[in-house]
Amino acid sequence: MNQKHYSIAVDGPSGAGKSSLSKKISAAYHFVYLDTGAIYRTVGLAAGRAGIDRRSEQDLAAILPDLKIEIRYDNAGLQRMILNGEDVSEAIRMPEISLYASDVSALPVCRAYLLEMQRRFAREYNVILDGRDIGTVVLPDADLKIYLTASSDARAKRRLKELLEKGVDTTFDEVLKDIELRDFQDTTREIAPLRQAEDAVLVDTSELDFDQSFEVLCSVIEENLPVRRESEA
Ligand code: DC
Repeated sequence: MNQKHYSIAVDGPSGAGKSSLSKKISAAYHFVYLDTGAIYRTVGLAAGRAGIDRRSEQDLAAILPDLKIEIRYDNAGLQRMILNGEDVSEAIRMPEISLYASDVSALPVCRAYLLEMQRRFAREYNVILDGRDIGTVVLPDADLKIYLTASSDARAKRRLKELLEKGVDTTFDEVLKDIELRDFQDTTREIAPLRQAEDAVLVDTSELDFDQSFEVLCSVIEENLPVRRESEA
């Protein structure tokens, strides 16, 4: 049986709202959502725990064969990341892991290791994947590509709010610095740098709140794919 599956690729810098919006889209259209950043974060966490040089191709290659990374979905449909049997879904959200993930994600050995895992998803389900290189590398033939962005100030404000709500002790300046450093690393790395695919629809959410951003994305989806939104429960 060769059933057509639809794939939506959402790329953009950190803090543009990719994950929260993609999650809501996946529920509204019954797509499976894959947060690919969470997979890179899991590798970043493992590298941090192993105490290796996170920018060394050789060091990372040495630990990869021993990592068992699993993606599961809980009863609420939320993605959980399992590293060698341990649920690390919360641990990978710590601020230092963002940078570790950005470090390891620049290594070809890391990207090659995770590529097939991401593509397999798209073959099996109607999917929405978010990340940095989904439209350019992972799913170059995605049915719809969206490049979601916002100014670094707007992104830092949102990320600060999220972190403070989680009880993480940080400041606007620290968050902005982290975002700008990651933008720099993610856009200037040699392999699969963050950039807008030529055929991606650009959505800038700097001036939009969450609900407005969601509505814009729904319009883009319904203009481009033969899918309709489930009425909300
Ligand atoms: O989306 P995020 O902040 O959870 O991603 C963490 C890091 O992982 C990000 O700085 C870059 C990297 N990443 C990547 O290189 N490619 C992806 N498809 C997703 C994330």
